[in-house]
Amino acid sequence: MRIDIISAVPDLLASPLSHSIMRRAQDKGLLEVVIHDLRDYGIGKHRQIDDYQYGGGAGLVMMIEPIATLIEKLKSDRSYDEIIYMTPDGQLYEQSHANELSTYDNIIILCGHYKGVDQRIRDIYITREISIGSYVLSGGELGAAVLVDSIGRLIPGVLNDGSSALFDSFQDDLLAPPIYTRPADFHGALVPQILLSGDDAKIEQWRHDKSIQSTRQRRPDLLDD
Ligand code: ADE
Repeated sequence: MRIDIISAVPDLLASPLSHSIMRRAQDKGLLEVVIHDLRDYGIGKHRQIDDYQYGGGAGLVMMIEPIATLIEKLKSDRSYDEIIYMTPDGQLYEQSHANELSTYDNIIILCGHYKGVDQRIRDIYITREISIGSYVLSGGELGAAVLVDSIGRLIPGVLNDGSSALFDSFQDDLLAPPIYTRPADFHGALVPQILLSGDDAKIEQWRHDKSIQSTRQRRPDLLDD
């Protein structure tokens, strides 16, 4: 899978996508993440990418030409399944969206900055708008990193234990059960005996019961249907 990210602040993206599981996904050749510095497509000798709003109002707007030039260039090399714009007024991002996006071959993620992008970019190019939560960030970069991480770990072969992404919280609309590792006794705080029993069926049942209990307490909305 290839993900092209368009950003006015590409340095914000480099670190979160170059360690741990995302690093491994790229090293294995299962995920290619290409970060594009929008300023390389800026206009004039100052490589301008933003300008004042028509009609007045505070805040700069990302201009249409640099973004359009870059998107056209990318589209001339390959076809894209989605061109996503990260914005607080987009669709609230959930695990089911990550599952869907992980099946695609090529996507573009456009990170908004300043006041946002010229509306015509959204009208002409964007196929999907995503918000990672009901709060406003300084730009779309952190959201884009969230998207790439959540998608990348679902690509078959990325996680060492192929099944483990399926047991993540939210995959079955349940939160994950509690987990423990050594020591079994930390100053009297004990690991539940059942996990030491070696009885796989009982352990699975216990985990399922704990998942339901935790979901009921913390996220009853997930059990609504
Ligand atoms: N850009 C600014 N805030 C955002 C949010 N909540 N989600 C996605 N992109 C954003």
